[in-house]
Amino acid sequence: MRLCVLISGNGSNLQALIDARDQGQIELDIVTVISNRADARGLEKAGRAGIPTTILEHQGFADRNDFDRALTVLISAGKPDLVMLAGFMRIVGPGVLDHFQGRIINLHPSLLPLYRGTDTYQRALDAGDNEHGASIHFVTGELDGGPVISQVRIPVLPGENKDSLADRLAPMEHRLVVATVGFITRHRVECRNTSVFVDEIKLTLPLQLQSDDTLTRYTASGS
Ligand code: GRF
Repeated sequence: MRLCVLISGNGSNLQALIDARDQGQIELDIVTVISNRADARGLEKAGRAGIPTTILEHQGFADRNDFDRALTVLISAGKPDLVMLAGFMRIVGPGVLDHFQGRIINLHPSLLPLYRGTDTYQRALDAGDNEHGASIHFVTGELDGGPVISQVRIPVLPGENKDSLADRLAPMEHRLVVATVGFITRHRVECRNTSVFVDEIKLTLPLQLQSDDTLTRYTASGS
């Protein structure tokens, strides 16, 4: 599978994919990494792994449509089967989505549909939630609103603050990203309207990451 990864920052999820590729865990060709920020530390990680990188800063464009057009051209050049937004802090517009419909996924740090948008950790704490987590979903025109493929859940601990919650969630996100991209390479995972189909069977709830890093259909007992 040919994968294009879009980043804006640290790129720790990109690194998790690189490591999984290098260890032969996933059959993956990471064809390109695109960042909308020149100072994204993930660019160095891609460079060290021998992956071609491109910086596309939105400041250089007259408007969002122009940026989206340039982004579409860049992504298309790598002929990816899948595009992953891994900490890409910019809304992907309809111009891009039209081209890669059903082939763009995003990692979001909440148990969607809870807490779309930013500051998810504090919002979960403020709501008194006893669990938090991360989701991977197909990207649609609705911000963090596309059909959810997979999730990982962690308990909220007593005395937790948003930094500790984010720190504990990060390694679980890495595992979720690797498991989900691996799953997509091995199964037929499709986005049809507002639903995800796996091997032709509709998911009623997102796949859940288990402690052995497998993804299973959700059951109330968590098994
Ligand atoms: C992750 O927490 C992800 O959930 C959010 O941005 C962060 C990206 O981290 N969308 P990194 O750049 O992969 O380290």
